[in-house]
Amino acid sequence: MRIGRSKNPTGEITLVVLTADDAFEASVRAAFSTSAQIGLAVVKTRLSDRDDIDLDGATVVIADLDAGDDAELEALERIMARADNRPPVVAVARSFEKVVARRLMQMRVADFLVKPVPPVELIRACARVAKDPTDAEASEAQIFTFLPAVGGAGVTTLAVQTAMLLLNSGTRGKATTCLVDLNFQHGACADYLDIEPRLNLSEIEPRPERLDRQLLEVMLSHHPSGLAVVAAPNRPAEMRSFDPDVVTRLLDLVSAHFDFVVFDMPRTWFSWTDSVLLGSNHLFIVSETTVPGLRQARQLVEAIRERLGDGPKPQVIINRFVQKLFSPGLRRRDIEQAIGDAFAACVPNNYALVREAIDRGVPLEEVKPGNQITLQLKKLILPHAAGKIGKEPARAAKKFKLAWARS
Ligand SMILES: Nc1ncnc2c1ncn2[C@@H]1O[C@H](COP(=O)(O)OP(=O)(O)OP(=O)(O)O)[C@@H](O)[C@H]1O
Ligand SMILES: [Mg+2]
Repeated sequence: MRIGRSKNPTGEITLVVLTADDAFEASVRAAFSTSAQIGLAVVKTRLSDRDDIDLDGATVVIADLDAGDDAELEALERIMARADNRPPVVAVARSFEKVVARRLMQMRVADFLVKPVPPVELIRACARVAKDPTDAEASEAQIFTFLPAVGGAGVTTLAVQTAMLLLNSGTRGKATTCLVDLNFQHGACADYLDIEPRLNLSEIEPRPERLDRQLLEVMLSHHPSGLAVVAAPNRPAEMRSFDPDVVTRLLDLVSAHFDFVVFDMPRTWFSWTDSVLLGSNHLFIVSETTVPGLRQARQLVEAIRERLGDGPKPQVIINRFVQKLFSPGLRRRDIEQAIGDAFAACVPNNYALVREAIDRGVPLEEVKPGNQITLQLKKLILPHAAGKIGKEPARAAKKFKLAWARS
């Protein structure tokens, strides 16, 4: 079966709905009946009953599936493999177990919704995923996330330096890079860079849909190097958590507009933490050279693996490492043994250098070119950035969506 063209000259879009559910069909027809620009094609079938649906020409596919039935998931997997992410597919089901949600994410489903789906939510989801993949919004950032195993390990320092390295990693000018301080209560990124924090989450919270490119621009701070920073003013006496929808919307938007995004994470596990970790391309746990520091790093690696499966692959960085050849204390070999396969690197201790960079609000490289901390970070980070360097910003069909990971 072949469906008509995706966009006719009047800009009409074709929405293909695969469903065996009468009630869902009726609600989709009701949701889209008033729009003259949407051509609706309903294919009455269970996903697993047919393998011959040609989706060529569809702008968006809504696939209604029985998520508890493996055959249905396999059928969707085949559709996704054939479609190669174009057209984008929105999965709909009565419920999604966490394992199913993860599987859908791995298939790169563009979004998933739980029935009954309010018409407005369905329209919004389709509008969002239907955007042309050549839009700036569809570009895909490389996300580097730094998570602390213990307090004061150096997460902010390493996140700031990584962002600077990524910024300067482009072969043709600077790669657009955004550092996001997710420590809403005790953030330090803006202080370390000596810039004014401008993110006002309370303003966005009542109406997250207002957060668009323009509003994001207002809430970004800019470091003289060209680094963009999303950071909120500190409210040390205010303990509050933000709606995960606001946070994921913000992160989705940031990741759609930059080549590289670096997250400085808090130690507390918030409702949006899973989403950030699942959406990260590179996840670094930062700890210190003490026995408890190593133990906590190890425990955090295990907790993430248990909680989030094979998605994010945590790698441990031991910061402020001092090589001790003839005196007692932990050596690199001990560290490697304690951390196991998640060990990534030891970053050397150089307090005077880090202090000066922080006090002046500049990268370490500017204080002391060729310093050991930057060299070590370069070795660790730049190979991961290589895919992006020298290329046009990715216009990949797959859109990075932190919102997918919401449970
Ligand atoms: N490689 C290093 N060598 C020497 N000092 C360092 C190094 N990395 C960080 N520091 C110092 O350690 C202290 C803590 O660093 P930082 O603020 O980056 O840690 P953090 O993990 O973000 O802390 P917090 O838990 O408060 O968010 C700072 O005084 C910083 O100067
Ligand atoms: Mg910090």
